[in-house]
Amino acid sequence: MSDAKYQSIAEKYQKFVMPTYAPQLLLVRGEGSWVWDSAGNRYLDFGTGISVCNLGHCHPAVTKATQQQAGMLVHVSNLYMNEKQAVLAEKLVRHCFDGVAFFANSGAEANEGLIKFARKWGSDKGKDQIITMKDSFHGRTLATLAATGRSKYRKGFAPDMPGFSQVPFNDFDALAAAVTDQTAAILLEPVQGEGGIIPADTEYLKKVRALCDEKGILLLFDEVQCGMGRTGYFFAFKGYGVEPDAVSIAKALGNGFPIGAFIVRREHAETLTVGTHASTFGGTPLACATACAVIDAIHNENILANCIKMGHFFKTELEKMAEKYACIKSVRCRGLMIGVQLDGNGGDLLPLLLKQGMIALSAGEDVLRLMPPLNLSEEEAEQGLKILEKVFSEISA
Ligand SMILES: Cc1ncc(COP(=O)(O)O)c(C=O)c1O
Repeated sequence: MSDAKYQSIAEKYQKFVMPTYAPQLLLVRGEGSWVWDSAGNRYLDFGTGISVCNLGHCHPAVTKATQQQAGMLVHVSNLYMNEKQAVLAEKLVRHCFDGVAFFANSGAEANEGLIKFARKWGSDKGKDQIITMKDSFHGRTLATLAATGRSKYRKGFAPDMPGFSQVPFNDFDALAAAVTDQTAAILLEPVQGEGGIIPADTEYLKKVRALCDEKGILLLFDEVQCGMGRTGYFFAFKGYGVEPDAVSIAKALGNGFPIGAFIVRREHAETLTVGTHASTFGGTPLACATACAVIDAIHNENILANCIKMGHFFKTELEKMAEKYACIKSVRCRGLMIGVQLDGNGGDLLPLLLKQGMIALSAGEDVLRLMPPLNLSEEEAEQGLKILEKVFSEISA
């Protein structure tokens, strides 16, 4: 693409797109683990659109399913059945726990559903409070913002929606002390993403489950970022052996096609009944056909096994780098959800990595967040590690 064309697109952004982001790079094509910019430069994508393109860009089977469905039936209202929604619901439930699914379009919308589910469940029990975690992230709508522990996102949007309080993550005593007779639910990410790739401790999650059972409280997991295989398990909670009462997913469910969902245990299947919750675009044939192809590919291509194998590889290699380079304070990995805690701002590394041909992310204040495609090859992993090492050595020099 010519410089003039790039300039004209950048000008249109400036003039016509609301400046809630500040993008510089213009991406034009993606294939597998790679994306290309308007100048023809190629980048190894270790951000995957923030854990969305978990199967890489333009995965052939997923693209084919979307194309086929687009020529058959794109949208019908939920006033009618569509085959793909039924098939997808069954596939998800079989990976989750016995229950029922509701389809939405994004992570925030899936979490709104979780919150509404908890409030409806608690409405005849005098329970309307939800406890969430400090440093958590649940979305940008008003309810999910109120649930979000990272208070900077709420600035300027007061008043907060009532009914939420936050406690420190992985601190069971603080959580137990915050529970009251009005507590309807505890909502948490099994692995905090935006907060800095912070996994829950297994013992903590087990105690939280027991507390919920003892006090009659719903346990809700937000797996929008850590779900869909990212941790090496289809749902991150499977790796902990702790089941929630309901769980939300989105991001990688459509590998780039917008779709979100929440699933509640069968015993709660009648909490949200006809007319109590809806979404025009939730669960369209097009979105569901795409998501079905994503789930089939996870199976057919041994994606989870590759994720675990590559996750170990990154952990080992990054820990070796941590011994060599003082800028690395710690390495946190759960499958291919990788956080490198730095002696400085995580975001500062991103332009340096970009210059070397890698797209990555930051998280929290001081974490470099790496979320490569789950079907990354060994060769690509090695290429990525080389780039990372180059940049770590550069900033350590
Ligand atoms: C854990 C978690 N929940 C919810 C969301 C919100 O998802 P969306 O941006 O699709 O609304 C995100 C987005 O980053 C997330 O990481």
